[in-house]
Amino acid sequence: MKILLLGSGGREHALAWKMAQSSILDELYIAPGNSGTRKHGKNVAIDPNNFSAVKDFVLENNIELVVVGPEEPLVNGIADFFNSDPMLSNVSLIGPDAEGAQLEGSKDFAKAFMKRHNIPTAKYGTFTKDSLEKGIAFLRGMNAPYVLKADGLAAGKGVLILNDLAEAERELTSMLMDSKFGNASAKVVVEQFLDGREVSVFVITDGQSFKLLPEAKDYKRIGEGDTGLNTGGMGAVSPVPFADAAFMDKVHNQIIVPTTKGLKSEGIHYKGFIFFGLINVKGDPYVIEYNCRLGDPETEVVLPRLKSDILDLFEGIATNTLSERDIQFYDKSAATIMLVSGGYPKAYKKGKQIYGLNSVVDSLCFHAGTRSDGPSSVTSGGRVLAVTSYGKNIEFAIKKSYEAIDKISFEGMNYRKDIGSDLIK
Ligand code: AMP
Ligand code: GLY
Repeated sequence: MKILLLGSGGREHALAWKMAQSSILDELYIAPGNSGTRKHGKNVAIDPNNFSAVKDFVLENNIELVVVGPEEPLVNGIADFFNSDPMLSNVSLIGPDAEGAQLEGSKDFAKAFMKRHNIPTAKYGTFTKDSLEKGIAFLRGMNAPYVLKADGLAAGKGVLILNDLAEAERELTSMLMDSKFGNASAKVVVEQFLDGREVSVFVITDGQSFKLLPEAKDYKRIGEGDTGLNTGGMGAVSPVPFADAAFMDKVHNQIIVPTTKGLKSEGIHYKGFIFFGLINVKGDPYVIEYNCRLGDPETEVVLPRLKSDILDLFEGIATNTLSERDIQFYDKSAATIMLVSGGYPKAYKKGKQIYGLNSVVDSLCFHAGTRSDGPSSVTSGGRVLAVTSYGKNIEFAIKKSYEAIDKISFEGMNYRKDIGSDLIK
């Protein structure tokens, strides 16, 4: 199979690494890729949001399957673009159409969808400029902390959790009246705060059946002990001990099945990944958010635990035969630690030479924000490398990743030293 993978982060490096192991892969291209993906295929300088450039490349290179890593092209309708173009009728694409991608692209859409299908989630109200007063009254009827979410995509920054009512009222006003998050906050979801532990659950679906992938826990805050600013994710582990069989049973029955059935019953043709951002409240799962893609850095522990050929699963999605495909996992655990640029998630410098990558032999170094500089790699983003290791349990896997990190360096390198420590007894 000839494949084009869209994206350039750690998630895409992990996808490229996994696809490169497939016996049915002929050629792999990554647009635009990074310094790590070039080891598994050919990087091509195409912007995933430039659909006509993607189309031209696909036709010129006889690409048979396009795998979409990030959410933006999906929310912008890349699947619709492919489905509606007769010249692309023989090309399959892994990712939902724009309607399905609304599960991530609009918090209000996702909340209303969950309400229609009785899927457990926090109580909420949605407000616009015209209903600001109602929004303030709604806030006043709730208890702290107050959760405010910009409806649209806001690069992970659109959620505010505030303890003070007056501040929450001010922020709601600024989101709606001053477009604090641009058009993304033209609508704001105000929701009840849920107290519990978060876990990321992933399925792949061809729109008819689904397969569950390994779950993972992400560490979103920059600082140890889950303090400081939110980031894209500072590390992840899989499996997650508190996502035990009883909990995962509830996730299956109360969340995954109603979601996939709900999509089908509403005529939404969803092919690709569904990412359930869940919170475990006293043993019961609630949906915090949906995403229409894999997580990053979760993918860097989820795919290493997948034993099956991922292209066989993708072929199952493309041909609506996913239910006939076998899916198997490794029993061993995986942990990944993100190495980030000094200053991230605020301003940081780029172009720093990365040393020591070749001396890491027992762990996987997934590149997140890197670019090639001749044969070497330099930093080109906030999150730079995800260092993944296996272990007989998460404790051993984490330890191995920290040992590998001791061999890697770049100017300003920062990382959390407590990934997974909350899960180890
Ligand atoms: P989201 O972009 O919706 O995933 O929200 C970002 C982060 O905010 C989540 O990962 C949670 O840590 C937190 N969060 C969002 N909604 C809630 C909620 N209702 N209760 C508690 N925490 C929340
Ligand atoms: N790690 C969280 C995300 O990918 O959204």
